[in-house]
Amino acid sequence: MRTLLTSALPYANGPLHLGHLAGAYLPADIYARYLRLRGRQVLWVCGSDEHGAAITLRAKKEGISPREIIDTYHNLNKGSFESLGISFDYYHRTSAPLHHETSQDFFKALLEKGDQFEVKTTEQYYDPSIDQFLADRYIKGECPNCGNPEAFGDQCEVCGRDLSPTELINPVSVVSGAKPELRETKHWFFRLDEHEAWLKEWIQNGTVDGQQLHDPKTWKKHVIGQCMSWLNEGLHARSITRDLDWGIQVPVEGAEGKVLYVWFDAPIGYISATKQWAAENGGNWEDWWKGEDSRLVHFIGKDNIVFHCIVFPAMLSAHGEYNLPENVPANQFLNFEGGKFSKSRGWGIELQEYIDEFKDFPNAADALRWALIRNLPEQQDADFTWDGFTEYHDKDLADKLGNFINRVMVLMHKYYGGKIPEIHLATDDVINVNANVFSSLRKIGDDIEAYRFKDAATAFVELATYGNTYLQDAAPWTLFKADPNDPAIAITMYNSAQIAAALAIAAAPFIPEASAKLRAVLLQKEAQASDWELAFVLLQKGQALLPSGHEIGKAGVLFPKIIDRKDDSRNAIIQLQRNKMASALALREEEELAAAPVVAERAPAKAEITFDDFQKLDMRTATILTAEKVKKSSKLLHLTIDLGNEERSVVSGIAKHFSPEEVVGRQVVTVTNLAPRKMAGVLSEAMILMAEDDTGKLQFISPPPGFGNGFLVS
Ligand code: 2FM
Ligand code: ZN
Repeated sequence: MRTLLTSALPYANGPLHLGHLAGAYLPADIYARYLRLRGRQVLWVCGSDEHGAAITLRAKKEGISPREIIDTYHNLNKGSFESLGISFDYYHRTSAPLHHETSQDFFKALLEKGDQFEVKTTEQYYDPSIDQFLADRYIKGECPNCGNPEAFGDQCEVCGRDLSPTELINPVSVVSGAKPELRETKHWFFRLDEHEAWLKEWIQNGTVDGQQLHDPKTWKKHVIGQCMSWLNEGLHARSITRDLDWGIQVPVEGAEGKVLYVWFDAPIGYISATKQWAAENGGNWEDWWKGEDSRLVHFIGKDNIVFHCIVFPAMLSAHGEYNLPENVPANQFLNFEGGKFSKSRGWGIELQEYIDEFKDFPNAADALRWALIRNLPEQQDADFTWDGFTEYHDKDLADKLGNFINRVMVLMHKYYGGKIPEIHLATDDVINVNANVFSSLRKIGDDIEAYRFKDAATAFVELATYGNTYLQDAAPWTLFKADPNDPAIAITMYNSAQIAAALAIAAAPFIPEASAKLRAVLLQKEAQASDWELAFVLLQKGQALLPSGHEIGKAGVLFPKIIDRKDDSRNAIIQLQRNKMASALALREEEELAAAPVVAERAPAKAEITFDDFQKLDMRTATILTAEKVKKSSKLLHLTIDLGNEERSVVSGIAKHFSPEEVVGRQVVTVTNLAPRKMAGVLSEAMILMAEDDTGKLQFISPPPGFGNGFLVS
C-alpha cells in the first residue's frame, strides 16, 4: 500500500510562523517519518503557492515584481522547513512550467467533459486609472456586516464574513484609491452544485456509489462539521478564472488576460509536485494518484477545509480516475501567548526568527517541535507560550527522556565497560519489560496512525517515565555496593538498555535530531530507514533490541535544562523572547489608548438574585461541532454542540455576528438546563453564553485552550 501525503502549499508572499508549522507540517512530518520507519511506501509532497492576488498586490505596493517576492519567500520557507527537520520528499513551486502545464491540462480535461463549466458574463469592478479589472482582494470598502471601513472584497478580516465586492459600501480600488466602476467580463464557473449530492454521501458515510472509500469515524468531528455546514447551505457554481496578469493563462481562445483562480491551480500543485518528483527520482506519478493500492491524505489547517474536502475532491471526481482523499486531518489554530499571530502587531515568532535566535540552544529544532507537539491544536485551538516551551523541554526531554538514557549509559559503562551484560535466564522481569516496551511502541504507533499525535507524544513520555521508575525501583547502585556480581544488576541493566533503545527509536518521528544521535550511540550504527519495524519485530518475538555483548557508546547530556541554577544561557534565550513580547504589548497599549473610542454606557445592572437562584443554572463547557444558518432567519444559527458525553442541538441568535464556518470548532460555555424550546421551527436544547461589548459586538465566553467538554462552570 502506498501513502501519498500532501501538506498545504504555503503562499510564497511572507514568512511562516509557528502556527503554520503546528497546523499542516509538523503533524504530517510525524506521520511521514513514522510510516517510513515502519517500512511503508510513502511520498510526501508540498511546495510554494506562488499565484493569487495577494502576491501581486504586495508586489505592486513594494514596486517590485511578483517573481522577486516568490523567489525570496520560496527560498526562505523551504530553508526554514529544512532547518526544523520537516522531511518533505519534494518541495515544488507553482510557478514551475510543469505545474502550469499540469493545471492547464486539468482545466482542458474538465472543459472537454462539456458539463463541468458554465461560462458567464457578469459585472465586476474595473479600475479605469490602471485599466484593469480588480480581483476581490484589490477592493476595499465598508463591511455591510460590522461596519469595518477596511473590509476586502472577498472577506472582512474584522468579523470574518465572506463577502463579494459588490456588497462593500463605498468601494475603492486598493491599487490606485480610485472609485471602481462595474464592467462586464466573462468567466468560467465550475459547477460545484452538480457535485453536492455525492459529496454529502461521501463526507457523511464515506461511500460513493455504494463503495466504501473511507471510514467517517476516523475523520475529525470538526472537519465533518465544517463540511456539512457548507453542504447544507447548498453548493453553487464557483468562478475559477480571474482577470489578472499573474498566474496560469486560461488555455482557451478568447481568454487572453485571464488566469486560473489560485485556488483552482494550488491543489493541482500536489499533482505536479508528484510528477516532478517522479521525473527526478524515477517512478510513476500516476501510481500514487490513481492506483487502487494508494491512499491520499491531506494535512491542512482548518481555514483550508472546504477546498480540500469539497472543491478539490469535486475537481478530482469531475476529472475522473483520481483517488479521493482517505482523510483530511485538519488542525485548528495555534495562538501565541493568548493572542492571534500578527506580524503587524509584532505578536508571535516566525520560523526563521526562531532558527536564528535559538542557534546556540542545544537541539533547538527538536525543542521547538516537542513544545508544539505537546500542544497541537488537534481538536481545538491551542496556545503556545514560552512557559509551556520551558516546561515541556525540562520536564519531558531533560528530566524524563534525557535523564533516563544518560543514567543507563553511565551505569552501563561503570558496571560493564559499556557492554550489555549476559543474563542467563529469561526471567519474568525480562519478559515483562519486553512486553511493556512492545505494547508501548504499539500504542505510540496506533495513535500516530489515527492522527492523534498528542496522545502518541504522551505515550512516548510514559515509556520514559516507565524506564525511570523501573531503574529507580531496582536501584542497581545499592545492589552494586553490596555485591557487584549480583545477577539482579545484570538483569536490571539489560532491561534498562532495551527501554533506552526503544525510546531512541520511538523518538524519531517527534524529535528526529536527538533520535538519530541516540540511535547512533546506542545501536552503534547509523539510524536506519526502518528501525522501528526492525525493533517491533524483535520485541514481538521476545528478543532484545540490544543483545548481551553489544557495546554502546557514550553521549553527553542531550537536553540540558533551561531552568538551571548553574547555567542561565538557555534561559537568557527565552528571556529575549519575553522581552520582545513585552515591547509588542507596550506598543499595542499605546496604540489602543490613542485610538480608544468613546465608551458607550454599559447595560444597566439587573435585579439582585439569591445564591440559590444562581446555583440552579447548569453551565458547562462545550465545543461547537456543526453550524448552519436557520432558513428564513437572518439572526439564527443552528448548531450542534459536543458536551463531552452527549451532543445537543442549539439555536443561537448570533448569525449577524458570525458566519457558520467561523464558529465550528469554537469552545464555549453553555447553559444546559433551560427547558428545550423551538425557535423558527428548530429545537434548541441549550444556550450559548455570549458577552456584548460597548459597540454591540458579541463575543464567545470561552474556557482556556485545550479545556475539555462537559465540565461544570460555576
Ligand atoms: O492558505 C494557504 O496558505 C494556501 N496557499 C493553501 C493552499 S493549499 C493547496 F491547495 F495547495
Ligand atoms: Zn465585517
